[in-house]
Amino acid sequence: MGTKISSFKPTDVQAALAKTQRGRRITPVRSRGLVRYRMIPSVPVPVSLLERQRLVGAPGREPLWDRFCTLRSQVLAVMERRGWRSLGITSARPGEGKTWTAVNLAISISRRVGHTALLVDANLRRPAVHRYFDIAKRHGLANYLCDGAPLESLMLHPVVGNLSVVPAGESVADSSDFLASGQMHTLVRDITGRYANRTVLFDMPSVADGDGALAMFPHVDAVLLVVEEGSTNRETLRRAAEALGDTPIIGTVLNKGEDDDA
Ligand SMILES: Nc1ncnc2c1ncn2[C@@H]1O[C@H](COP(=O)(O)OP(=O)(O)O)[C@@H](O)[C@H]1O
Ligand SMILES: [Mg+2]
Repeated sequence: MGTKISSFKPTDVQAALAKTQRGRRITPVRSRGLVRYRMIPSVPVPVSLLERQRLVGAPGREPLWDRFCTLRSQVLAVMERRGWRSLGITSARPGEGKTWTAVNLAISISRRVGHTALLVDANLRRPAVHRYFDIAKRHGLANYLCDGAPLESLMLHPVVGNLSVVPAGESVADSSDFLASGQMHTLVRDITGRYANRTVLFDMPSVADGDGALAMFPHVDAVLLVVEEGSTNRETLRRAAEALGDTPIIGTVLNKGEDDDA
């Protein structure tokens, strides 16, 4: 399996539809963040974890880093131009690489000078962000939505860039009611409004996996659509894009390309 991210085209689902069988590469730049959080618990991210999870920053994965830097720059350029603060990462079906893309993009954004990123695992039915950082599944967004736990008590700081993470917590089967709730609305308003230099990313459910994605769409300014190259059926992708309704698609990422070396 390859790790290619390609053909990122802002607002262009047609490009993904046309390239479900084939992909193209993207390239460029590297930078580091400066600010460090002190208030929230730190989670060490050893190189071995970056390697195991195929994350940006792992030694020998410079091409991956380059591609995510390009993706980051493209995403941030559109978000800054439009005044958008929150981005949902979704896909038509489970397993296409949403969480992997969300984690790598969040790390890349958090390493931009003067920028911070907050990654929220909003896939309450199939939580996964915690696995990428080796975090225990016990506490997270579900505790805030279901039990009223304060968000600050659920936030973690993986020691990589200026990144904060809110894991999902224990799995919630019927999660869409919680995701559609006023509490979720309040949370999104709070976390997107707090710091001007912070981008909030939501790892979302896939469109085909219950109605969690539909519940999340109203909360995000735009979505990034992850498409498993050569696998996602065109009709499935078209239906997923339709299900987004008025939610803008900032772009698409063709994932798991065959001829990749990252
Ligand atoms: N580009 C890639 N190269 C290699 N493995 C990948 C890639 N993208 C995702 N994966 C792996 O595929 C599996 C599913 O990815 P994940 O991000 O969890 O999917 P989703 O969140 O869409 O359900 C995970 O094991 C992940 O590590
Ligand atoms: Mg996932």
